[in-house]
Amino acid sequence: MSSKPNKKPTPMIVTTKYSNYLVTDLETLKKSDGSQLKTDPVTALCRCGNSEHKPFCDGSHNDHGGLNEVKKEGGMPDKVKAYEGKDIIIYDNRGVCSFDASCTRLLPSVFKKDERPWIDPNGASVSEIIDTIEKCPSGALSYGIGSRRYQDLEREPAIQTRKDGPLEITGGILLKDDQGSQPESSEHYTLCRCGKSKNKPFCDGEHEDHEFKAD
Ligand code: FES
Repeated sequence: MSSKPNKKPTPMIVTTKYSNYLVTDLETLKKSDGSQLKTDPVTALCRCGNSEHKPFCDGSHNDHGGLNEVKKEGGMPDKVKAYEGKDIIIYDNRGVCSFDASCTRLLPSVFKKDERPWIDPNGASVSEIIDTIEKCPSGALSYGIGSRRYQDLEREPAIQTRKDGPLEITGGILLKDDQGSQPESSEHYTLCRCGKSKNKPFCDGEHEDHEFKAD
């Protein structure tokens, strides 16, 4: 009799506005330098920025008035805008962007930091645009060709810390959040771990202004 191979459970991140990030069934948790960290069947990760043992939650949030992690006034709307070019459409959702600036750094002829509109979909070749969008860690950027939209990559589930920045989620780890927040790409997104984002649970780059420090 043939037996079916055991399918690995899909990791999931569960959080509420009053709790840390509880990650189930995660095998790959890495520091920004690529070194592997130990995980448990349920791994609690810090979202407030106060833990002495980042990226893990060590309960320090209780010494800082507890958690109440909701979106704040002044955050970006969770809204997708389309920039239609000759050969490609670039989609952008500012409401999940972590402002890591890989797009403006790698392809400034398309992603223009100081101009409006800030995206010119005719500013480079299709392959250059796709290469750049595939490096967007937050999933804020995606693209369409013809009637098909491309948002996801094929990677194994993993969480990696960005030095002095957010948690970078890849590989389709499910997000269950009592506030109903959903990532723009189900395959990759960035979660706030400094506690200052206005677009919680997503990173919005506030760690830079608050000089958040963590490996
Ligand atoms: S969420 Fe628990 S210490 Fe930060």
